[in-house]
Amino acid sequence: MADRGRIFITRRIVDLDEALQRHNLSDEYAIEVWEGERAPDLATLRQKVQGCLGILTQLTDPIDAALMDAAPTLRVISQCAVGVNNIDLAAATQRGIAVGHTPGVLTDATADMTFALLLTAARHVVAGADYVRAGKWQGWSPTLFLGKAVQGATLGILGYGRIGQAVAMRAKGFAMRILAHRPSPERAAQDGVIAADFETLLRESDFLSLHVPLRADTYHLIGARELALMKPDAVLINMARGEVVDPQALYQALSEGRLGMAALDVTEPEPIPADHPLLSLPNCLIVPHLGSATVETRRAMTELAVANLAAGLRGAPLIHRANP
Ligand code: GLV
Repeated sequence: MADRGRIFITRRIVDLDEALQRHNLSDEYAIEVWEGERAPDLATLRQKVQGCLGILTQLTDPIDAALMDAAPTLRVISQCAVGVNNIDLAAATQRGIAVGHTPGVLTDATADMTFALLLTAARHVVAGADYVRAGKWQGWSPTLFLGKAVQGATLGILGYGRIGQAVAMRAKGFAMRILAHRPSPERAAQDGVIAADFETLLRESDFLSLHVPLRADTYHLIGARELALMKPDAVLINMARGEVVDPQALYQALSEGRLGMAALDVTEPEPIPADHPLLSLPNCLIVPHLGSATVETRRAMTELAVANLAAGLRGAPLIHRANP
């Protein structure tokens, strides 16, 4: 029997075996799954991909040209995430490697988490819970943990793609005024949002939510200049990638009271070290990149990532392809 083609899967993901069976990959290919609690290091990754026809990756795996050259047989890189900033797409295209990703199935979970952070920041949910747990609650007070109204507040959405639009739908339910950066005129009319330029978004938002992909032009898109334009009591929510916000400038703005609060699902670097200055600030709330983290969503991401992998291995069009 001829050698079966090799596949490397860089993390054990939810319901992986079931998805591999469903797509008839388990018998057809020699599949290795990295069972480590943490991502494989770069040297391990390079070694594991050698001779592979396909790899299934996570957003933490640096997939660069050198790695692709270590695997000249590679036909498909299937990323189990919507963001693909960890993959050199141009290098993949040059080498004729298809890159798959998982948009759509994680839109609602990510939009829900955006709203969880927005409400948590607006109403001091974490600070209040910590206060009670620490035994500091001495009695009801008319001025304890006064928050910021959500109803009627202006929400700015930077990055009006699938997730930004799903955030807008939630914001409508909360009767917010919604500014969106560069929606198409049809989309803005359909969604009932106001199209705003970048500067208006910064100046007018009470809550500014980031949903842009990380690219060269969005790296540190929110820096000292942009933060200085924001309202001093505004809340910045980052659901995109940590690198979209300059962490040094964010620390300065928050610590000097020039920005009300930051609620971050993503950080630069990730994970953020426990002694990072941002973690010393009471007005900075950080959760560990949980945007798509529901059982149902992760299951759907596995299914889509494995479907993309199977298509790429068989030379068929991927369901969602990130490179031309
Ligand atoms: C999560 O951050 C993703 O890109 O799917």
